[in-house]
Amino acid sequence: MERKKLTIPDIRKKKQEGRKITLLTAYDYPSGRLIDEAGVDIILIGDSLAMTVLGYESTVPITMDEMIHHAKAVKRGVRYGLIIGDMPFMTYNIGEKETVRNAGRFIKEGGCGAVKIEGGTEMTGVVKALVRAGIPVLGHIGLTPQTATQLGGFKVQGKDAASAQKLLDSALALEKAGCFAVLLECVPDKLAKLITEKLGVPTIGIGAGAYCDGQALVTNDMIGLFDRFTPKFVKKYADLWPLLLNAFKRYKDEVEAGKFPTEEHSFTMNDSELKKIKTKRRTK
Ligand code: KIV
Repeated sequence: MERKKLTIPDIRKKKQEGRKITLLTAYDYPSGRLIDEAGVDIILIGDSLAMTVLGYESTVPITMDEMIHHAKAVKRGVRYGLIIGDMPFMTYNIGEKETVRNAGRFIKEGGCGAVKIEGGTEMTGVVKALVRAGIPVLGHIGLTPQTATQLGGFKVQGKDAASAQKLLDSALALEKAGCFAVLLECVPDKLAKLITEKLGVPTIGIGAGAYCDGQALVTNDMIGLFDRFTPKFVKKYADLWPLLLNAFKRYKDEVEAGKFPTEEHSFTMNDSELKKIKTKRRTK
């Protein structure tokens, strides 16, 4: 069957038909291309890029310009998946005009089909403004890394009845405001199940158990290409860090030992041509 570009109605249909949605983050051309070729539905240019690729301590410092630069590279590698741009901290809660302008950059310059914003009920005004401007929005509640300090750090959210209620209310409010899906990060699986059952739009979980309509992971976590920490919810499908380190070390050792390059990786020329080269400097 010929593969076609995935749309937002296709994502909604997957929930209705009980088919799981997949999401991975991508930050450049090769990751975009590989993830798309693997058939993953949603390719998120996550602001995790700040930490996994740019080496910042948190996601907070990354700018719109940096995100757009990487979104453009991802876009060049993706043919079928839905590409989503993650709005950086302080680019979407700073007045309607500026918010729409920033989100619009992901669509116009970055080639994205939607944006993601962090936050619950308090973000419904922002969601409405974006949807009014024709920009589809993926909501993100639970552990929201941009404001993790307010939440007491990188902790599971919604473990008691009061905070769980707040998350359910937020999910419903985001749906009502126009989000086409809601990402649930680090919430107990039974709460994620309840939210998934109550919402008409899909839920996509990351550290939210098996009952969500879809699953997300940060690519550099699941391929072992982030050196600082690995959250409990991450399954490593590959372990690239030691693999790459070994390749770089072998290269260094072989060059130093004169083992690379050999003839196999060199270009040749005829000796007769070589002899024609004048090696003595002509004098006048
Ligand atoms: O930035 C990111 O990678 C995210 C994840 C939760 C998917 O938002």
